[in-house]
Amino acid sequence: MRDFLDVRIARRQEEAEGIISLELVDPAGGWLPPFEAGAHVEVQIAPGLSRHYSLCGSPQDRRCYRLGILREPASRGGSAQIHQGFVPGTLIRISLPRNQFRLEEQAAHSVLLGGGIGITPILAMAWRLHALGASFELHYCVRSRARVAFVEQLAQAPFAERITLHVDEDGRRLDIPTLLKGPDAQRHLYVCGPGGFMEAVMGEGKRQGWGAQNIHTEYFAAEVDSTGSGFTVYTARSGQTLQVPEGQSIAQVLLEAGIEVPLSCEQGVCGTCLTPVLEGIPDHRDLFLTDREKAANDQMLVCCSRANSAFLRLDI
Ligand code: FES
Repeated sequence: MRDFLDVRIARRQEEAEGIISLELVDPAGGWLPPFEAGAHVEVQIAPGLSRHYSLCGSPQDRRCYRLGILREPASRGGSAQIHQGFVPGTLIRISLPRNQFRLEEQAAHSVLLGGGIGITPILAMAWRLHALGASFELHYCVRSRARVAFVEQLAQAPFAERITLHVDEDGRRLDIPTLLKGPDAQRHLYVCGPGGFMEAVMGEGKRQGWGAQNIHTEYFAAEVDSTGSGFTVYTARSGQTLQVPEGQSIAQVLLEAGIEVPLSCEQGVCGTCLTPVLEGIPDHRDLFLTDREKAANDQMLVCCSRANSAFLRLDI
């Protein structure tokens, strides 16, 4: 079975400052494969360049897939290229939907939290819970009014009364401690958004005694921090010694040296660039490996992680 789909961009809409939405349809007019709430697709942007985006429409509606795409301020061609070149009528290739952010559909109550563009998988979850007739509430947190996306869709949604919008600049910040009060095995929390937002919610959840099995997370747009001193990388397969300066990632240096590195998110989220470490101590900056895997120091994500030792020998 093919694991990709060719689809046509049927509609493009400016949703908010720096955010567009795309509607993707089957070029032959058929239905698209089913997807679960929380799923994402990998979008091929150019040869060797792809990005992952959550599906934000209703899983009940198989006429189209909806994506919300934020133009990353530091984009070197991923989201920026989509914003520039993805116009209605364009044929693009995407993966089949995959899901690592599943709903516990039997929960007595679900709390959905979306920060910024992290609202996208949360919206699909709201559609699904609404279709199931399940109990839920949705909190959408944004820094400024200009960044509130999907305004029309939210206002017209049949579950509009379950949505609370929290806009920092209006002084209506989400009161996380109050929201998370009284953890209960039947209540599940779903969080997607930028790193700081996620950490605030998860930290408070932990403090209040929420069980790990009741908190579901999906990192979005992790910012890659390339600060820190330079170090040396030795590539065991091609026998090159390379300097990684501050401000550049290992992956960038490897690519410049002509060494092929599989890349996708370039944000330490997807795991595509996982590389075995033969010597040296990585400074793990990704969101993919577990704490135990990080402590083993025998593999690393070269798109974002750096070195805690002056030297790293990589099996690449
Ligand atoms: Fe996704 Fe490195 S490319 S984790």
